[in-house]
Amino acid sequence: MIGRRAVLASPALLGAGCASAQVPPPIPQAAAGPGLHARAAAKGLMFGAALNTGQLAEPDTTAAIRAECGLLVAEYEMKWDQVEPNRGDRRFRLPDRLMEFARVNRMAMRGHTLVWHESDPPWMGRLDARALANAMQDHIEATVGRWRGRIGTWDVVNEAVRAEDGRVDWLRRTRMLEVLGPDYIPAAFRAARAADPAARLAYNDFGCEHATVAARRKRMGVLALLRGLKRAGAPVDVLGVQAHLQAGQPFAADEWQDFLSDVAELGLTIEVTELDMNDRALPADVAARDAGSADLVRRFLEATLAQRAVRAVVTWGLSDRHSWVHAGRLPEHRRRDSARARPLPLDDAMRRKPMWHAIAIALDGAPSRA
Ligand code: XIL
Repeated sequence: MIGRRAVLASPALLGAGCASAQVPPPIPQAAAGPGLHARAAAKGLMFGAALNTGQLAEPDTTAAIRAECGLLVAEYEMKWDQVEPNRGDRRFRLPDRLMEFARVNRMAMRGHTLVWHESDPPWMGRLDARALANAMQDHIEATVGRWRGRIGTWDVVNEAVRAEDGRVDWLRRTRMLEVLGPDYIPAAFRAARAADPAARLAYNDFGCEHATVAARRKRMGVLALLRGLKRAGAPVDVLGVQAHLQAGQPFAADEWQDFLSDVAELGLTIEVTELDMNDRALPADVAARDAGSADLVRRFLEATLAQRAVRAVVTWGLSDRHSWVHAGRLPEHRRRDSARARPLPLDDAMRRKPMWHAIAIALDGAPSRA
């Protein structure tokens, strides 16, 4: 592995710690052939992607998923507002189709996500504390119970930390927090454990990865939450790091690895759950953009996979044809030019991009978990 990397890496690439978005390093190439999951599995890791049922109708997309993935996650079809659009009215038809696709193709599934302020069902706003606690309990019991024994890891609580909300406990001010208080978090984990004792239970969040003031604060908040959950005896097993990376933002392997070690010391494993690249700060030129994105992904994954508690890498979509980035929901997703974002490892035609090679190289170079 080292040999091939050394041959492929130019001096500029070896100094990539200070590569800037303006001077993209040369594009490294992994050997063609095995898909990303095969490379991950050779190291005792898993690789996969988010998808939705609409994509199952596209033969080139499903072929690419089969070639690259061993782990799938529903992009939104397991979220609370989707599976319980009206109180007690549960709809599992679409996520059942994803579960079936995974079963037929012998892939594992992640569950995503039980409690997330952005997928609160609209009827939730009318409930008092007692009714809301019951609704959360019922939702977790029904949803986790639906696929009991068939989901490896559940994202139980998503994005509950927000330093900017100014609380001493770093928690995001959500409807759940307002009505139930901070105990909604351990309660959600306990309900999930009861509904499927075999599933590993994750706290999942974004914004931790870069070497910025905001990310440092976020990491402190996430660690405080995880330590508190552990102290309270809440059954949390996994930290999900979303890894919506931003080209042009600094990344420092050492401080990132310190954070991962702190998490591992709590006895947790770690999964990269939503990897993609916001290429807004990179030039429109496709070759330069792809090189810049691949470089950041490679540095991020090499640093991440060096930590043995890390068990899986999941990208938020597999090809540039399908990405939430195109919807431009977040202001930071909108490019200032008209270039179409290229956030994922495959291009619109399912061809492997430099980002694919970056992931392959990082997986090939990862220490074995066996
Ligand atoms: C996004 C989906 O990609 C969109 O289709 C949906 O409209 C909103 O949610 N963090 C998460 C994911 O945990 O669930 C989000 O997915 C992206 C940010």
